[in-house]
Amino acid sequence: MFPGRLAELPPAMFAMLANLLDPVKPGATPIALSVGDPRGAVPDFVREAIAKTAHQFGEYPAINGTQEWRNAAGGWIKRRFKLPDTAFDAERNILPLNGTREGLFLAAFIVTPQTKAGQRPAILIPNPFYQCYAAAALAAGAEPIFVPARAETGFLPDFAALPKSVLERTVAAYVCSPGNPEGACAGENYWRSLFELADAHDFTVFADECYADIYFGEEPVSALPARFAISGNFERLLTFHSLSKRSCLPGLRSGIVAGDAKLIERFRAFRNYAGPQVPMPIMAASAAAWRDDSHVAVNRAMYAERMAMAERLLGNRAGFRKPDGGFFLWMDVGDGEETALKLWRQGGIRVLPGAYMGRETEAGKPQSNPGFRYIRVALVHELSTIEATLGRMGEILSEGRA
Ligand SMILES: Cc1ncc(COP(=O)(O)O)c(C=O)c1O
Repeated sequence: MFPGRLAELPPAMFAMLANLLDPVKPGATPIALSVGDPRGAVPDFVREAIAKTAHQFGEYPAINGTQEWRNAAGGWIKRRFKLPDTAFDAERNILPLNGTREGLFLAAFIVTPQTKAGQRPAILIPNPFYQCYAAAALAAGAEPIFVPARAETGFLPDFAALPKSVLERTVAAYVCSPGNPEGACAGENYWRSLFELADAHDFTVFADECYADIYFGEEPVSALPARFAISGNFERLLTFHSLSKRSCLPGLRSGIVAGDAKLIERFRAFRNYAGPQVPMPIMAASAAAWRDDSHVAVNRAMYAERMAMAERLLGNRAGFRKPDGGFFLWMDVGDGEETALKLWRQGGIRVLPGAYMGRETEAGKPQSNPGFRYIRVALVHELSTIEATLGRMGEILSEGRA
């Protein structure tokens, strides 16, 4: 599909899903549980901030964002991750993004040299994964190394198990916590081991924490305090945060990259060449959203209610697992593609086969894809729709079973 470095990218996962399902007649009025589109009400303070500053669409914004934005976003980082005032400086440790996807993609360029240890640089990617990571690695000239995140490793990638020959040419590792698609959260020990590995082999950790505020038990441990506890700084770390999930504002396209001051400085320089600035009214709305935690608590409670409903309806099925965070079910159904087809044909229910987010670990063996056995189910609709759809889904999944 793409030329050059990107030639090895498969078609986008929703294009694969359309290929699978569109030729088949849905068994009922279609309902999409395939897309992670948060669909919340837009808070009034967001509308007001944009209306008040709309005249500033007439100006080029600064790549650093406004002082108001830095105070608000930096304030959230310190408050949310309990960092001492002296540890984190919004002037040096943070930049605004047009959503985290943009930052997750561009970050690969600032850490990838021509060669490392005399070889092609490698970027480590959990498998399955948010598809942007692979595009970023390839575009930056690195080899993506897909590292399985299966049940046996707590649905997180075990990077330390990689051969030394890979680790010595590694320039970065993406980690997603809470994870999309599995919803697993990295704990303190996971972060500590990862930073030890990153320090030993001199690579950067890209911590994608865009689901950090959607959790069902304890607050997930963030990479920022975990790194700070080890070294008293954020060396070899960039973290990515988003309003898309926290505030149900995916259309605002507003995110944060935060971490090591030297990396942020390099990122700023690179973004001055190639990064899209964030429009001033979006920055004003974003600042208002980062300042406020009450709407986030409401969103979190809403997702917890949906997850409790899912547990009630599907929890006694083999293959159901309650995630630690995020808003996806990652269900082991034996064959994700076959099940997605069945749910569509019999119930008009659109879910994503897990394999579409993963890669085969042995070429030509579909079952070696760590996502093969799974479907991903997004709980983004209102409760009554989720109740009706998951109820129906449970019935369809039970059909044909002893
Ligand atoms: C794991 C993960 N990272 C990043 C993103 C991008 O989020 P945004 O660009 O809206 O901040 C998403 C969106 O679905 C995601 O699931």
